[in-house]
Amino acid sequence: MSVRHFLSMMDYTPDELVGLIRRGIELKNLRNRGVLFEPLKNRVLGMIFEKASTRTRLSFEAGMIQLGGQAIFLSPRDTQLGRGEPIGDAAIVMSSMLDAVMIRTFAHSNLTEFAAKSKVPVINGLSDDLHPCQLLADMQTFLEHRGSIAGKTVAWIGDGNNMCNSYIEAAMQFDFQLKVACPTGYEPDARFLALAGERVQVVRDPREAVAGAHLVSTDVWASMGQEDEAEQRMALFRPYQVTRELLDAAAEDVLFMHCLPAHRGEEISFDLLDDPRSVAWDQAENRLHAQKALLEMLVEPAYHHA
Ligand code: CP
Ligand code: NVA
Repeated sequence: MSVRHFLSMMDYTPDELVGLIRRGIELKNLRNRGVLFEPLKNRVLGMIFEKASTRTRLSFEAGMIQLGGQAIFLSPRDTQLGRGEPIGDAAIVMSSMLDAVMIRTFAHSNLTEFAAKSKVPVINGLSDDLHPCQLLADMQTFLEHRGSIAGKTVAWIGDGNNMCNSYIEAAMQFDFQLKVACPTGYEPDARFLALAGERVQVVRDPREAVAGAHLVSTDVWASMGQEDEAEQRMALFRPYQVTRELLDAAAEDVLFMHCLPAHRGEEISFDLLDDPRSVAWDQAENRLHAQKALLEMLVEPAYHHA
């Protein structure tokens, strides 16, 4: 059987995704009860980071250690990838020594090219197009706080970026309506919009997007790799700042999420993460639990003794 990867939310069925986030909750409970659970003893995850990270690196590294395995951090600067070794060649070699590979990169094609040659599962730790691991944590967080997200309405405010594209995929897979409020020219990727059809609506006015929303989410106005555009984006996105007042215009029981890192005073008001409607800290912690469920599913369990 060909190896399974996790490059996008569309790589799994809706049932598999719900199963994964439920398993994430079980693994969180095990950890909170201090139960040792090490099915991945001796297994090794390679982590290629072409962009900075706090949460993704920590959650994968800590997650592997907690499951009994280990993780190796690989930066292009210190590997031959940074000196032009072809991705496919690197994939053949790396996957002959590792049990899974997580990649945070720029072009999404880097992930698909690596996966095409990899003998072990490849996990998307963020590309310019998508951030599916974050969505596992977000969906787990919603389930924990409010129950099933099916049939609910979600508002995405700001840049139609990689996170927004993953929210579009999540809308299809978890069966919710998504309203995206973004400036002209900063819409999510047309390919994802076309796939989602009427499930996703793009508007200009943030208040229109949040009306009736059970979940409001946003992200930085300039993603990694867009540093040169930051100043120009600041001015353009100013009307898209998420504030307590904007959340007041959403559903009574609305939750606020932010994948973090946040720029307080830019895409969110300074105090928003302290608002009781914000679950951003739970969301960040759930990266650990949700990805442990993913690793448990993707990585072959421990070797048998000879
Ligand atoms: N949300 C997220 O992916 O955070 P990091 O960039 O810190 O990994
Ligand atoms: N959209 C952001 C997400 C960071 C977790 C970026 O790509 O930089």
